[in-house]
Parts: sequence; C-alpha cells; structure tokens
Amino acid sequence: MKILISLIFLKLSLVSDSNKLDVFGGMNHYMKFLEENCEPHCIFPESSLASYNLDLFPTNCSTVCADILIDERSNLSEYQLSHAFQNMKHLIGSLAVMSTDFKSGTFLASLESVECSTKSRLKPPVDIIEPQFMWGDNHNMINLGLVNLTSIGCSNIYFLRNTVRLLNLPNLKNIYNPNAFTNVIKIQIEANLHEDFCITTQEMQTFITTEFASLNCRPCKICENNVNMCNDSLENLLDNCTHVNGNVMIGPENEHLVSKLKIVETIYGSLIIRSTNLTHIAFLENLKHILTFNYSVSIIIENNPQFSNLTFPNLKRIYTNSLLTAIMLNNNSDILSPNFKNCDLIHAQFKYLKTKSISLDENTCEAIQRSANNTLEGKLANHPSLGIMGFLNLIIILGAL
Ligand SMILES: *[C@@H]1O[C@H](CO)[C@@H](O)[C@H](O)[C@H]1NC(C)=O
Ligand SMILES: *[C@@H]1O[C@H](CO)[C@@H](O)[C@H](O)[C@H]1NC(C)=O
Ligand SMILES: *[C@@H]1O[C@H](CO)[C@@H](O)[C@H](O)[C@H]1NC(C)=O
Ligand SMILES: *[C@@H]1O[C@H](CO)[C@@H](O)[C@H](O)[C@H]1NC(C)=O
Ligand SMILES: *[C@@H]1O[C@H](CO)[C@@H](O)[C@H](O)[C@H]1NC(C)=O
Ligand SMILES: *[C@@H]1O[C@H](CO)[C@@H](O)[C@H](O)[C@H]1NC(C)=O
Ligand SMILES: *[C@@H]1O[C@H](CO)[C@@H](O)[C@H](O)[C@H]1NC(C)=O
Ligand SMILES: *[C@@H]1O[C@H](CO)[C@@H](O)[C@H](O)[C@H]1NC(C)=O
Ligand SMILES: *[C@@H]1O[C@H](CO)[C@@H](O)[C@H](O)[C@H]1NC(C)=O
Ligand SMILES: *[C@@H]1O[C@H](CO)[C@@H](O)[C@H](O)[C@H]1NC(C)=O
Repeated sequence: MKILISLIFLKLSLVSDSNKLDVFGGMNHYMKFLEENCEPHCIFPESSLASYNLDLFPTNCSTVCADILIDERSNLSEYQLSHAFQNMKHLIGSLAVMSTDFKSGTFLASLESVECSTKSRLKPPVDIIEPQFMWGDNHNMINLGLVNLTSIGCSNIYFLRNTVRLLNLPNLKNIYNPNAFTNVIKIQIEANLHEDFCITTQEMQTFITTEFASLNCRPCKICENNVNMCNDSLENLLDNCTHVNGNVMIGPENEHLVSKLKIVETIYGSLIIRSTNLTHIAFLENLKHILTFNYSVSIIIENNPQFSNLTFPNLKRIYTNSLLTAIMLNNNSDILSPNFKNCDLIHAQFKYLKTKSISLDENTCEAIQRSANNTLEGKLANHPSLGIMGFLNLIIILGAL
C-alpha cells in the first residue's frame, strides 16, 4: 500500500515538474503563444519599452503582442508614446505604467482591450511575476486617459498611489480572468493621492459584478455623479432613488416606511436595522449590493426580538474595505442563535465573505464552525466505534442545531 502511494506521489511530482518546465522552460513556449495570437510583425519581444527600442515597436498594428513596461528608466515622452500607440486597439501581454512623471496616459486612448493571457506564456527569466495590468506611483498624473478601454482580461489589476482624481474608465464593461491556474482576480485600488479621488458608480458596478474578483479599495469613495443616487434618510427617500449614498437606518421611528426601500438596488454605506419589530427583510426585494467604503460593518441587525428570517431576497454581494466584520447580528429572535446552521445560511448567500467576517451574538462564524468541528472531532476521537454511520448522524445532528 505504502509503495503504491509513493509511486502515485512520485508520478504526481514528475507531472508537476514537467509542467513547471513547460511554464518556465524557455523561449519556445512564449513565442508559440505569441505567434498564435499576433501577426509575427506585431510582436514586440522586449521586456520593457524605452527610447533605445522604441523603433522596434509595431506601430502599425491594431493588435499587438507585448509586455509593455514603461517606467522612470524609459526616457520616453508622452508625445513619442502617442505616436507609437496610435493604432493599438488590442494588447495581448501586459501593461505597466510605473513611476513615470507623465501628466496623462492619453497616449493609450485608442486602447480597447488588454488581455494578459495565461501564466504559461511568461517569458523567462524576466517576468516570473504574473501577467498584469498596473498603474502605480505616477505622481504627476492627472488623467489615466484609458477612455476607450472596454475589457481587461488580467488576474492582477492595480491602481496604486497615482495622483488622478478619477480612474476615468467610462467604457470598462468586462473584466475576466484568462489564467487557467487560478480563478481569483485581484483588483487593488489603493493609496491614490488625490484628496477627492473617487470611483464612479459605473466603474464600481463593473468591479463588483466581476466573478471571482477580490476587490481591495482603500481609501475608497464613490463619486456623487449618478442621477439615481440620493443620500436621504428613509423618511425623505425619493421614489426614484435606486442608489443610496450613505447609511440606510431602520428603527422604531421609521419601520412602517420600509416598503419605500423596495426600489433600492445599491447601498453605498451600511444597512442598519435596530430595535424594530420587523421579522424579515423581504422588503429589500431589489437590493443587489451593499458596498461599505468607510471601514465599517456593512449590515448590522440588532435588538429586533422578532427578526428571524435571514434570507436576503436578491443580495448578490456585500463588500467592506474593513478587514474585520461585514455582517453583525445581535440579540434578535432566539431562532438566530449563534450556531452552525445560521452561519451556513448567511455564508451561503455571500460566497465572497470569509466566515470570520460574519458575527452572530458576538461570535464569529469562523469560531462557531471551528468549535463545531472540534466537537465533532472530539466525539469521533472518544468514540472510535461510532464509525461512518455515527459520523453521518453527528453531521445531521449538528446540521439540525
Ligand atoms: C506603417 O504604415 C505606413 C503607412 O501606411 C508605412 O509607410 C510604413 O512603412 C509602415 N511601417 C511598418 C513598420 O510597417
Ligand atoms: C533619451 O532619449 C534621447 C532621444 O529621445 C536620447 O538622445 C538620449 O540619449 C536618451 N538618454 C538616455 C540616458 O538613454
Ligand atoms: C475611441 O472610440 C471612439 C468611438 O468608437 C472613436 O470615435 C475614437 O476615435 C476613439 N478614440 C481614439 C483615441 O481612438
Ligand atoms: C427623481 O425625483 C426628483 C423629485 O421628483 C427629481 O427632481 C429628479 O430629477 C428625479 N431623478 C430622476 C433620475 O428621475
Ligand atoms: C447629499 O447630496 C447632496 C446633493 O447630491 C449634497 O449636496 C449633500 O452634500 C449630500 N449630503 C451629504 C450628507 O452627503
Ligand atoms: C413593537 O411591538 C411592541 C409589542 O407589540 C409594541 O409595543 C411596539 O409599539 C411596537 N413597535 C413599533 C415601532 O411598532
Ligand atoms: C462611516 O462610519 C461611521 C462609523 O465609523 C458612521 O457613523 C458613518 O455614518 C459612516 N458613513 C457612511 C457614509 O457610511
Ligand atoms: C424567508 O424570507 C424569504 C424571502 O425573503 C422567503 O422566501 C422565505 O420563505 C422566508 N422563510 C421563512 C421560514 O419564513
Ligand atoms: C436584547 O433585546 C432585549 C429585548 O428586545 C432588550 O431588552 C435587551 O436590552 C437587549 N440586549 C442588548 C444587549 O442590547
Ligand atoms: C470545519 O470543517 C469543515 C469541513 O471539514 C471545513 O470545510 C471548515 O474549513 C472547518 N472550519 C474550521 C473553522 O475549522
């Protein structure tokens, strides 16, 4: 038996070694990928773009295969780049504009799509890092200029420490992951330096509706430029307000008005239901997103003795840039006691939330699950004769708690 396992293991490690060779094993794999995607004369095989190799850039091509890295060593002007990129609509490779003193990125205004493609095309040994889309440390930049960009197919998308006020991606509609090795798309929008830096509702909808995206946005603010956005309290809520910018607070004084919330689709702030007689949240029938950018808890449901139904009819995603709690339920109906089943019920609705971000009567669901697991292990250890049927029964018992 042991030998068989070792053999299988050996086989597995051989397979993964040869995969590694495939991935990092030289120029051939890389060139093959590029040739499948671009005309030979549209491939730019250099690892960065600079004054000494600008002449080699395939300026006439609308689809270019290249890893475009422009940084403080490039010695290129915005004017030279505008000329070089004037016909480029589709980039296959990667794009990084780092530590430049450019005022604007409008030299990429004709760009419509970037596809980073898979890890296996990486060109060794220069870029062992994953293919990416990155704008960072451009400390004079006023405008990123990517106004025609509609699609980014990259698993790492970064906007870090730039001085722009807006990302200005009015046409960005599609973000996807071309990398077969991992599902996660990391979108990081961090430490941007303009004091009024904000993200439009349309940009945020694109980020937040991207499958598998892990968004990190700090500090984060939504631009107040949406016609259907309002910041009024429930009492004054207009009947065309689908985006609420601010907290939605429901308490004993306004719980009779909750039906007004049925048109709300997005809350940029927190949902707080406190000290009411409400039993459920079915009135939030169109609420799809709760996005909380001031490091606060996204949903607080507290001191509602009759509140017992945890089903959000239509909520697709809640996001907070806090690393701590996202959902907090305290002191509601006895049915919502801190147990495994209630945690599962909540967690199943929000696949992007970690169980440590959900808290029931001051216990995180991570802790609740851990102790349920320990109890299970403990019982199995103490009663080895329980066997598989005992194990299944235990699961059923725990599930029913
Ligand atoms: C690019 O196109 C221009 C005009 O069509 C042509 O004169 C030039 O030779 C082309 N350059 C390359 C490198 O193909
Ligand atoms: C920068 O580019 C100019 C031409 O655009 C060139 O004359 C100069 O030598 C370059 N400087 C360096 C340090 O490469
Ligand atoms: C951006 O797209 C629009 C509409 O398709 C087009 O008219 C415009 O020329 C494009 N801008 C650039 C700089 O290519
Ligand atoms: C929403 O309603 C208010 C008041 O009736 C009105 O001023 C505003 O223009 C409306 N907005 C939209 C987008 O219809
Ligand atoms: C609410 O929105 C109005 C207009 O959009 C704005 O003038 C006001 O400052 C906002 N109030 C708060 C508290 O954000
Ligand atoms: C909630 O129910 C209690 C008991 O029935 C009642 O006294 C109280 O007025 C109700 N509160 C509201 C806001 O309806
Ligand atoms: C931001 O967080 C504070 C609590 O830390 C809260 O009182 C405030 O209302 C929040 N603002 C918005 C717009 O959500
Ligand atoms: C809980 O609410 C949902 C809709 O919000 C509803 O479909 C479901 O039947 C309710 N469950 C119970 C046990 O009342
Ligand atoms: C829990 O709810 C009950 C009844 O609604 C209330 O009397 C009590 O003060 C609440 N406890 C806390 C800790 O808020
Ligand atoms: C509890 O056990 C389940 C199933 O084995 C596992 O998926 C989960 O990660 C465990 N949770 C903790 C907190 O240990």
